[in-house]
Amino acid sequence: MSVILKSSKTSVPLRWRKEVESILITDDQLARRIKGLAREIERDFRGREMVVVSLLSGTVMFLADLIRHLNLPLRLDFIGVSSYGLGTESGELVFTKELRLDVRNRDVLLVDDILDTGKTMSRVLPKLRALKPRTIKTCVLLDKPSRRVENIRAHHVGFSIPDLFVVGYGLDFAERYRNLPFVGVLHPHIYQEVSKQICNDLNK
Ligand code: PRP
Repeated sequence: MSVILKSSKTSVPLRWRKEVESILITDDQLARRIKGLAREIERDFRGREMVVVSLLSGTVMFLADLIRHLNLPLRLDFIGVSSYGLGTESGELVFTKELRLDVRNRDVLLVDDILDTGKTMSRVLPKLRALKPRTIKTCVLLDKPSRRVENIRAHHVGFSIPDLFVVGYGLDFAERYRNLPFVGVLHPHIYQEVSKQICNDLNK
């Protein structure tokens, strides 16, 4: 696992500078680490075919880059799960898409973009286990251990990061910024403004 403690020295592209304070993980760092992660996962699965189950929507970029480096036979499916609301805290979980592939007696790799409080994984894992796969391994690009409220750890972790509000490379704030090619730290004024707006709407 790579541990990221400080933002990179690479400057934020001009277009994003008003919203993104700093780059935490550059596109080069992401590419290098994801290749390494793919090698670790290959070793773990020892050539066995896997079913990759990816959680929508934050995994979109990570998943595409990870699976193109996995030299293993695999099938791919998605579970739609989202925390309700636009704030920075994970709220009530809603399932928006169920798994279609049969995972009974299969080796599953569950992929998510970030392990934060652990609430999402701890809701998804029992659902998956109920489908009786042979094994389940978990893989996340980012881990924020300081925010954990559930007793849960991922088998494969890209980067362990501090408690910063990160966006980009699939991760959103209010459904925006998923398209940034790096992981960046959002300016607090962006989410403070949105939170204020939500409070005003609730008080109307
Ligand atoms: C985000 C992220 C993880 C989850 C992690 O999902 O993609 O699935 O939160 O947080 P937790 O460990 O505190 O549960 P979100 O609900 O924002 O949906 P998204 O993937 O569509 O952005």
